[in-house]
Amino acid sequence: MNLSDQCRLFLLLLTAPCSRAQVAPVMSPPVLYGLGVPDLWSWVLWLGLLYVLVKASKLYLTWRQLDKALRPFEGPKRHWLYGNAHEFSGNGKFLDTIAGYAEEYPYAFPIWLGNLFAWLIICHPEYAKAVLSRQDPKDNLGYYFITPWIGKGLLVLSGQKWFHHRRLLTPGFHYDVLKPYVTLMSDCVTIMLDKWERLIPDENPVELFHHVSLMTLDTIMKCAFSYQSNCQMDSESAYIKAVYDLSYLVDFRFVCLPYHNDLIFHLSPHGYRFRRALRIAHEHTDKVIKERKQSLKEDTELEKIQKKRHLDFLDILLCAKDENGQGLCDEDLRAEVDTFMFEGHDTTASGISWILYCLAKYPEHQEKCREEIREVLEGRNIEWEDLGKLPYTTMCIKESMRLYPPVPGVARELKEPITFCDGRSLPKGVDVFISIYSINRCPSIWENPEVFDPLRFSPENTSHRHPHAFLPFSAGGRNCIGQNFAMNEMKVAVALTLQRYELHTVPGKEPLVLAQLVLRALNGIHVHLKKINCAKKKKN
Ligand code: HEM
Ligand SMILES: *[C@@H]1O[C@H](CO)[C@@H](O)[C@H](O)[C@H]1NC(C)=O
Repeated sequence: MNLSDQCRLFLLLLTAPCSRAQVAPVMSPPVLYGLGVPDLWSWVLWLGLLYVLVKASKLYLTWRQLDKALRPFEGPKRHWLYGNAHEFSGNGKFLDTIAGYAEEYPYAFPIWLGNLFAWLIICHPEYAKAVLSRQDPKDNLGYYFITPWIGKGLLVLSGQKWFHHRRLLTPGFHYDVLKPYVTLMSDCVTIMLDKWERLIPDENPVELFHHVSLMTLDTIMKCAFSYQSNCQMDSESAYIKAVYDLSYLVDFRFVCLPYHNDLIFHLSPHGYRFRRALRIAHEHTDKVIKERKQSLKEDTELEKIQKKRHLDFLDILLCAKDENGQGLCDEDLRAEVDTFMFEGHDTTASGISWILYCLAKYPEHQEKCREEIREVLEGRNIEWEDLGKLPYTTMCIKESMRLYPPVPGVARELKEPITFCDGRSLPKGVDVFISIYSINRCPSIWENPEVFDPLRFSPENTSHRHPHAFLPFSAGGRNCIGQNFAMNEMKVAVALTLQRYELHTVPGKEPLVLAQLVLRALNGIHVHLKKINCAKKKKN
């Protein structure tokens, strides 16, 4: 256990409502009076005391250092024991609380989890730029829970190894590779829209996130591994269930404080479910890799494979070699495959669900997008060439990601001291959290930040804005490698949905934003769907 784990466990023991403090059994009074030979018990007691003393002074020193480091940064008052933790626990208001503080402390402010662990929360573009232009590793806490699943893939790696992998994988996102995916994406979206057609006669609203995440999972399986999962129609596949479970449990563990402790999580029913899902997912990934390796035995050059069929990420991964002819080992391969599975479906599911919700909420923009889509597609299916001809729809997608960034924040552990634009600085070792959600709503950059206004992203309005004011895909060397893939998928989903359905909000079911690893809604994202009748379409 590292320090922050200990501090969380400590907090947990103090705050857990059910912990009837288990007092250690009283020892028989040891011989402490200088009389006779000290027995075993007194040795144990002395050593125990010494241990506690050493630990306590270490913790005290950590606290002193962190407290001193963060002193230049004014922030919200903290409780002597909980720090600020109690303000966030369980009410689903994390993001709005942070965004509220961001108005009070406009650059950055500390948030304490107990008295031994703190993040500097960054909520200004200039501060974000200072951090994102460096190469600090991801911090431990934010990424710890996904590693058992995705292993040491691109998302969590750092240093030389990250650089090596990033270079090997970049060709996998070249537009030649992405181009044929548009058809696969539109197939998957069509399955979802057909499914909705069977749901709407009963006039109940549809919860988008559930349907959309099965759709994006289907998509990433087809694009990345040419795997026909059929997961949207029959969710019986053990692998799909496992991936779905893992995404859910990682998020759940993140927000459930007791589960931050490895032992408690391990012994819990959720921990059991997690291990079972892990086993299924890893076995499946290993099998897919093995089979593909077998079938690629003859063809080791991408050009040759490309003549026979589309390339997918797995081909790129298996054929990737650096200048020394060095490829990825099996463990690294699996980590990258699992990273794509994780990064590539929940994030886009969040993006698509929120944009559809925004369009339902702002019917005038929905109608403008629909007109644009009709003009370009004229009722046919969407193709690669169309994606660049939807400027208004693209602006709406960006505006939706400004208000509802699918990845609400990223964290780093400073490996070197840093000095910010206003001269304040931090020593190495401090954890910082860049609140993408707050930066995207920063009132000194965005006029009336709460208002949905796609014209903010018109070329004229974008050109003189701070380049770090809009960060859905992060920025710098560790930005999202999948951003073009994601934008394409969002455009395909919005275009095909608006072609067939009108979206309306459901009174009384406004989604409440919930920050887990991706942005979700506490109560789901519900909309009413109304099929567009063809007569109207022809008339236009
Ligand atoms: C709307 C959809 C998406 C959003 C908003 C998004 C956002 C992000 C963000 C903010 C990061 C930086 C994370 C950090 O610094 O910790 C990131 C990294 C990454 N994303 Fe995405 N992402 C999306 C879709 C995708 C897709 C579809 C893929 C793959 C097919 C993908 C693969 C990755 C990978 C591998 C990284 C790590 C890159 C590195 O560290 O070198 N993402 N993404
Ligand atoms: C720029 O944004 C403002 C306010 O959002 C809007 O009124 C204006 O039309 C936009 N300009 C352009 C050229 O899109």
